[in-house]
Amino acid sequence: MLSELLLLSGPNLNLLGTREPQVYGSMTLENIHEKVRAHLRKYEIGVRTMQSNHEGVLIDAIQEARGWALGIVINPGGFTHTSVALRDAISAVNLPTVEVHLSNVHAREEFRHHSYLAPVCVGQIAGFGWRSYLLGVDALLGHLGKLTESE
Ligand code: DQA
Repeated sequence: MLSELLLLSGPNLNLLGTREPQVYGSMTLENIHEKVRAHLRKYEIGVRTMQSNHEGVLIDAIQEARGWALGIVINPGGFTHTSVALRDAISAVNLPTVEVHLSNVHAREEFRHHSYLAPVCVGQIAGFGWRSYLLGVDALLGHLGKLTESE
């Protein structure tokens, strides 16, 4: 059976491409998913992608991942800075999770400096545009021991 990761994106990320391109870049979420899929093919690892504007839907996806995912890469969008419930879901399922952001949240408004999720994640990657997603996937694979020494 193919090993798979869950790649989750939160609210407003469905608008990537047209949403504040000076902050988030011009690539669509579908383009980013394609980049990740192509990248993971090299490792023979699959990815299930999903985006939702709804906190409960994201929580359901995290809970459901318990049955099949090696780990999770999540861009929680604005929920990063508000959601105890998403944090609790990540803690509850006990799957290694990497938090990613397109923008450097630490260089932006103060309310974006705090993440409720970061303390229950393996780590956080922020500020590299769409490449944050690729870096996040590699960070997770490295954590899982799925990369060779040289990668
Ligand atoms: C974001 C940063 C968040 O502060 C913001 O609410 C988003 C996108 C990012 O990818 O840079 O929706 O998660």
